[in-house]
Amino acid sequence: MSKRLRDAELMGEDIIDTYLSEEPLCESNHPTESDEPKLRRFVVDGRESLQRPRLIGKGLHGVAILATIKGDEYVLKVFKHWKQPGPVYYRYDDAILLSPLACESRAYARLDSRNENDGIWAAQCYGWMRLSDPQFQELGNVVDVNKHDLSRWVVVKEYIPSPTLPCDLPEIFANFEIPKRARIVPRDARLDNYRGSKIVDLSSALTEPSPRWTKFKFELFYGNTTFGIFQWFKGVEHAYEPPPRHRDNHLLTRPLPL
Ligand SMILES: Nc1ncnc2c1ncn2[C@@H]1O[C@H](COP(=O)(O)OP(=O)(O)OP(=O)(O)O)[C@@H](O)[C@H]1O
Ligand SMILES: [Mg+2]
Repeated sequence: MSKRLRDAELMGEDIIDTYLSEEPLCESNHPTESDEPKLRRFVVDGRESLQRPRLIGKGLHGVAILATIKGDEYVLKVFKHWKQPGPVYYRYDDAILLSPLACESRAYARLDSRNENDGIWAAQCYGWMRLSDPQFQELGNVVDVNKHDLSRWVVVKEYIPSPTLPCDLPEIFANFEIPKRARIVPRDARLDNYRGSKIVDLSSALTEPSPRWTKFKFELFYGNTTFGIFQWFKGVEHAYEPPPRHRDNHLLTRPLPL
C-alpha cells in the first residue's frame, strides 16, 4: 500500500453525497431505507452562534460539546481528523466509509431511514453540520482545537443528563433489537458510551453494507457481546442480576418486551 493511499484525506468535501446528504433532517423529506445510508443535515446553518458552549466529554474520536443554538440545547460531537490506523489499509473507496464520522453518520442514517431515529436505543440525532469559521472560533473558547486535532465536522444529538444505572440494564438489553433489525453492529457498547438507557456514541458502529461488516461479527455481537452489559455493575451494591441464559446464549425469558 503506497504512502499516498495511507495518508489520503478521508474527511474532505466528497463525504457529502457519499454518506452525508444535503437534505435537511426534517419530517417532510423522510428518506427510504436504501443500501447507501446518507445522514441528512442539521437544519441550523453556519451563521447561528453557539451559545454557552461547554465541554461535556472527550474520547478517541472527538469531543462532545453542549451548546445552545437558537434557544435549544444540543450536544455537538466534533470529530477529530482521521487517518487509517493500520496495520490493514483499505483502498480509498472503502477507507472513506470507515472513519469514525462515517460510522456514526451511516448508523444514524440507517435508523433515520427506518423511522427509528427516535431516541429509544440511541440518543436522537438531529443531523450533521460543518462548523463555520466563527463557530469554530467559539468552540476554541472551551476546547483546544489543535491539541485534539478537531475537524469542522459535527454530528448533532440530544443531550442526556442522567447517568446509566443498574436498573437501566433490562431496557438497554431489550433495545438491542433495534440495531439488530437495522443490521448495525454497534461494537463499542460500554458503560462510558451510555447515558440513562441510551447509547450516545456510534462512531465505532458498522452498518451493512460496509467494508468491515461481516455476518460473523454481526452474529457474535448479538449472540454473545450484548450479554456483557450485565457485567457493568458487577460487585456494585444493588447491581442488576441477569436473567438465566440458555446454553445457546438466548435468554430464557426476555427482560422487557419491545
Ligand atoms: N448526547 C450526550 N449526552 C450526554 N453526554 C454525552 C452525549 N454524547 C457524549 N456524551 C459524553 O461525552 C463522552 C464522549 O463522547 P463520545 O463517546 O461520543 O466520544 P468518542 O470520542 O467517540 O469516545 P470513544 O473514546 O469512546 O470512542 C461520552 O462518553 C459521554 O460521557
Ligand atoms: Mg465514547
